[in-house]
Amino acid sequence: MIPVVDIDIKEREMKAVQDVIKSKYLVEGPNARSFEEKFAKFSGSKFASTIVNGTCALHLAMVALDIGPKDEVITTPYTFVASSNTILFSGAIPIFADIDKETFNIDPEKIEEKISEKTKAIMPVHIFGNPCDMKAIMDIAEDRNLIVIEDCAQGHGAAIDGTHVGNFGSVGCFSFYGTKNLIGGEGGAVITNDEELFEKMKSIKNHGRSPAGGYDHYLIGYNYRMTDMTAAIMNVQMDRADEIISKRHDTGDKYREALSEFKDIFVQKVLPGHQHSDYIMAPLIVNNKFSQSEVIEYLKSKNVGSRSIYSKLAYQQPCYQDLTSWHLSRVIDYPDYSKVKCSTAEYVAQNHFEIPMVTSLTDESINYIIEVMNEYFN
Ligand SMILES: Cc1ncc(COP(=O)(O)O)c(C=O)c1O
Repeated sequence: MIPVVDIDIKEREMKAVQDVIKSKYLVEGPNARSFEEKFAKFSGSKFASTIVNGTCALHLAMVALDIGPKDEVITTPYTFVASSNTILFSGAIPIFADIDKETFNIDPEKIEEKISEKTKAIMPVHIFGNPCDMKAIMDIAEDRNLIVIEDCAQGHGAAIDGTHVGNFGSVGCFSFYGTKNLIGGEGGAVITNDEELFEKMKSIKNHGRSPAGGYDHYLIGYNYRMTDMTAAIMNVQMDRADEIISKRHDTGDKYREALSEFKDIFVQKVLPGHQHSDYIMAPLIVNNKFSQSEVIEYLKSKNVGSRSIYSKLAYQQPCYQDLTSWHLSRVIDYPDYSKVKCSTAEYVAQNHFEIPMVTSLTDESINYIIEVMNEYFN
């Protein structure tokens, strides 16, 4: 089976972890500092800080930006549940705006419709690595005085007119979970161009300490530090980033070119000047002659790995449909998420299918996947 997930780890990453273990400096240390430097350079941001994972990166950004109880944060429902969960963690209320049917990203016009006097922030998610329409989103945010936190978990190597995602809002939050473009097993990072905010996030991620460390705590904080073993893997991944990401871009371009000829499926539209990270390729079925589950089963029968990713939107998850088990529901009035409806997102959730984008794909396997799809759809 040509896999949809294949972990691109080499001897170099293994050796780097062994070196950390031999050094006995297991906690966040020299490898983390060196990774931060490389990641800031890679993302073109002034400041980068390692975080234990992408979920904590989003939560940290929200806490540092003072987003909390009574605030509303507008986000997309078509994402991994962590995006909106972190809004709940902060005590704020996720408000779901529908997505654009071509980019699968939050639709700026729908954001406008959801703004209320309680809205404090917008959390765009660059879904599958496709940059959101950040120009339109930043215009809205500036007009309405709203904070923007970018969920760049899937966006390593995604850019708009040469600016890496994560640099448009106040903070960009990344994940290095084991299936992403750049991987540490678990892992995350925040980037920002605001020094004061950067220092605050570094403190909060380390139990509110000052840079000098020790046992004085100036802010209520968390332990969101990365281990130096993860940072060591990330260091090597950064050295290999160009190789890994250009391979993905190459595969993404090949698929986009070939699949744009297919009448019954639609490939996520990349806006002009935007560079997709090519994390996930998930065409959308646009002809009701075909069904998501049948396409996936067919591809698998031909040894092409395939799956649906978010068939349930965030608000459709059982934990949102009934929020009573969430402890803050005792003190916060949440919307009744069972009444929320984002029709475009619901269509995309039910009609997309993922195909392999892994770096181990050869030209031969890409051609085979396209041929198999051609036989089915055309
Ligand atoms: C869009 C999105 N946001 C947030 C996260 C959370 O990141 P992590 O798994 O590193 O906590 C992920 C995924 O893993 C994600 O895909």
